[in-house]
Amino acid sequence: MFDYPVDTQVKPEVTAFFDEATNTISYVVKDPATNACAVVDSVLDIDYAAGRITYDSADEIIAYIQSHDLKLEWIIETHVHADHLSAAPYIQDKLGGRIAIGENILIVQDTFGKIFNEGTEFQRDGSQFDKLLKDGDTYTVGEMDVFVMHTPGHTPACMVHVMGDAAFVGDTLFMPDGGSARADFPGGSAEDLYDSIQKVLALPDETRLFMCHDYGPGGREIAWETTVAEEKANNIHVGGGKTKDEFVKFRTERDAQLAMPRLILPSLQVNMRAGEVPRDGDGNMMLKVPVNKL
Ligand SMILES: [Fe+2]
Repeated sequence: MFDYPVDTQVKPEVTAFFDEATNTISYVVKDPATNACAVVDSVLDIDYAAGRITYDSADEIIAYIQSHDLKLEWIIETHVHADHLSAAPYIQDKLGGRIAIGENILIVQDTFGKIFNEGTEFQRDGSQFDKLLKDGDTYTVGEMDVFVMHTPGHTPACMVHVMGDAAFVGDTLFMPDGGSARADFPGGSAEDLYDSIQKVLALPDETRLFMCHDYGPGGREIAWETTVAEEKANNIHVGGGKTKDEFVKFRTERDAQLAMPRLILPSLQVNMRAGEVPRDGDGNMMLKVPVNKL
């Protein structure tokens, strides 16, 4: 069943960057054997009310990589985020590296290409990204082998990236007291999310799990790292052997009550383009607000 090439003997150095505005955690992951690194889920700063985009969060990551003399090889998007904008092209412009996402980005581009009524100039073939990944694909960061698991449910293109003993779970799981992410976006599925979470929980117990988001439930301090063992035992949505039926019922009822994320409209337009802000015919960065489409 589980035939991914796990190697928990390799222990990458993981540095986290927390974005307070969107509760997103970005990571720099360093190969233990070389100076190669990857960036996972970077953030662009946006003041949506003012239509103003700035680069402080991305600059912090860039400064970290430069000051530690690291070589950036990969810029990873675990999925098309609906709550923050990706800074992938901005970072790539400064440091190089290849931008990767799951191959089902094509489904996301098709869905939201229609919602935003994009013209033919918006390619729906994933060509905005340097690499499209499918389940079981591997790549390297320096000498460290990485494999990906396709984990749909939250979105169709979600991928968990496993680098040695560290897994970057995107929005499949939250910290044990946070449970799981919503599964009601177009193309989402609570059933699929349950199955995807089981894939993550089939990794070795000691695997370090790194979250994409944390909201500090109950007022606890923000946290982003846990283990497979802790999630299996304590996750409030899937831990303690909760059944698929229980999960799907709970998730569906909960999702029906959730408001849309504040930044979903700008996020999707930018992130389905690998982080490029769309431009109008005159070359100005410009975002749309489709009315009554979501
Ligand atoms: Fe997400």
